[in-house]
Amino acid sequence: MNILILGSGGREFSIGRALRKESEVEKLYFAPGNGATSQLGENLSIKAYDDLADFALNNDIDLTIVGPEAPLVDGVVDIFKAKGLTIFGPSREAAQLEGSKVYMKNFLAKYNIPTARYIETDHIETAFKFIETLPLPVVVKADGLCAGKGVIIAMSHDEAKKSVSEMLSGKAFGDAGKKVIVEEFLDGYELSMFAICDGEDYILLPAAQDHKRLLDGDEGPNTGGMGAYAPTPLVDDVIYQKVKDRVIRPTLDGMKAEGAPFEGVLFIGLMIVNGEPITLEFNVRFGDPECEILMPLMKSPASELFYKAATKQLDSLQVEFSDQHAVGVVMASRDYPYKSSEPAEIVVDEIVHEALAENSHISYAGVIEEDGVLYASGGRVLVCVGLGDSIREARDRAYMLCGQVHFAGKKLRTDIAYQAL
Ligand code: AMP
Ligand code: GLY
Repeated sequence: MNILILGSGGREFSIGRALRKESEVEKLYFAPGNGATSQLGENLSIKAYDDLADFALNNDIDLTIVGPEAPLVDGVVDIFKAKGLTIFGPSREAAQLEGSKVYMKNFLAKYNIPTARYIETDHIETAFKFIETLPLPVVVKADGLCAGKGVIIAMSHDEAKKSVSEMLSGKAFGDAGKKVIVEEFLDGYELSMFAICDGEDYILLPAAQDHKRLLDGDEGPNTGGMGAYAPTPLVDDVIYQKVKDRVIRPTLDGMKAEGAPFEGVLFIGLMIVNGEPITLEFNVRFGDPECEILMPLMKSPASELFYKAATKQLDSLQVEFSDQHAVGVVMASRDYPYKSSEPAEIVVDEIVHEALAENSHISYAGVIEEDGVLYASGGRVLVCVGLGDSIREARDRAYMLCGQVHFAGKKLRTDIAYQAL
């Protein structure tokens, strides 16, 4: 099988790393990839979706896997399918579950999927009135994609109103803020669940927990995610069953009824409040860094999972997961998440400890390569992944690996997986 992966992050690296090990996989391409994906396959500099589809046609690509949300929301899947290609990801219409928070919230409400009480509006007075009725804090969200910055947890009613004004005037997020969601704050613990969907059937992956804040103890600004682990002991069979019955099944049935069957990764952001899973949001792709810890937990071939999902054959597929736990610790550059940093050479010490060498690895993200040397190029640079028979063992290995990786300005949280330990 020849496979093309769209994207350039640690998520795409980790998918490529899993596929590279499979005997079924022959050629592997990344567009655009990063400085380390070229060790797994070939990086392509083709940008236009039409040209990428032509590349896939002319190079016998059997499957294309889309990593990030932007190409999905742009409709890359529709472009590939129109040319008869097999591609794993949601259509442009189905990608609205992530592309528009208004679409997502109205969908949840229409199909009775539990979510925070909310209104959607483009009218400032309506928003202000609803804000007054809510206890503090109040959550304000811009409708469109804002690179993870469109959610404000306001600690006063005035702050909530100010956020709404800035969004609706276009000052804060341009067109993405022309409509807003105002919703109640949910107090509980957050989880991520990932269902690989083929429009009708799905395979649920082990539940993961991300760490969105920059600093230890969940302090500091929100980031794309500073570390993750799975499976989390915060989920028991009862919660899995509730998520299946109350979220995933009605979502797949609902999207079909809407004429936009959901194919691809349904990423369910959940808040567990008093044992009840409440849907905070959907994304339509893998989480990053969640993907980096879920890929190594798959025992069955990932190529088969993604191919069968893209060709509506999940009903006949059994997927096996490893009994191990995985912990991923993100190493970011000095000025993340505020601005990019100067390139810095990455040095990885030789790992002599056998159990560590066998049960840990690096997924590379923000890196460039020059003359065989990798440089941190800003943002989230890499993820150190540790595997083990317990979360503690996996966590210890991830941090041991972190100690072997060096670059100027490296920054990491020291408490990943604390809620499970
Ligand atoms: P979202 O982009 O919707 O996932 O929001 C980003 C983050 O804001 C989430 O991961 C939560 O930590 C937080 N958040 C969003 N909505 C709520 C809510 N209704 N109550 C509490 N926290 C929220
Ligand atoms: N780690 C969260 C996300 O990818 O959105």
